[in-house]
Amino acid sequence: MRKHIVAGNWKMNTTVAEGVELAKAVVEHSAQVPADVKLIIAPPFTHLYPVAEVVKGTAVGLSSQNCADKEKGAYTGEVAVNMLAGVGCEYVILGHSERREYYGETDAKLVEKVKLALAQGLSPIFCIGEKKEEREAGRHFEVVTEQVKNVLFELTPEQMANIIVAYEPVWAIGTGLTATAEQAQEIHAEIRKVLAEKFGELAEEISILYGGSCKPSNAKELFACPDIDGGLIGGAALKAEDFIGIAVSFLLISCYFKVCSFL
Ligand code: 13P
Repeated sequence: MRKHIVAGNWKMNTTVAEGVELAKAVVEHSAQVPADVKLIIAPPFTHLYPVAEVVKGTAVGLSSQNCADKEKGAYTGEVAVNMLAGVGCEYVILGHSERREYYGETDAKLVEKVKLALAQGLSPIFCIGEKKEEREAGRHFEVVTEQVKNVLFELTPEQMANIIVAYEPVWAIGTGLTATAEQAQEIHAEIRKVLAEKFGELAEEISILYGGSCKPSNAKELFACPDIDGGLIGGAALKAEDFIGIAVSFLLISCYFKVCSFL
């Protein structure tokens, strides 16, 4: 069975003190979340060390939002994967559309970053997604397929087994416009089909998360789709109640299915 995952991408928000409080609140409320749902939080770099102290020994995983594309050396301002692993990160978000758009991250650079992260034992949360104009032109399947092939097809099956994919339509990020469950499901199924072309049955084991204006009110409908294995949450991850509320959706879905099978 695929892992259910709800990951919070805090982006460039909160001070260290606020971040520590938010992490404490997530840990405190995490008991409400079903045991088969993995919670992950991704604070800014500056917060990782104190937040690692908060989540240590709990079920909440720690992720960074990026990493360098080099192992070490004279790269001012960059943070290497061994530094992230050393501070307690188990995950790293890579290929977020904001990194691709504002910081010129190319697929070639992402191949380097993904491989470096994997070599350090970190699991990349690898983001893909089309822009508004690409969807309007009916090119969303093509764009997402390219992003998968250009980066993930460079991996061995052993490497791929440690990847989490996040489908985040750019037009849905921070806009309040969520993809409908049908739109998200059809593209998640397509991503899995493309992965199966290269990796065969392993594609069934890969968690594919949805991201883009996901909130407690729409998570249930999205997560009930067969190929949506959780969410990568932006704005709603900045409030512990909302973040946990999204993860608790899995509990409601399993209750619903139990009741249906009973009837
Ligand atoms: P929002 O949930 O704020 O739309 O952000 C999604 C996202 O970009 C997570 O990485």
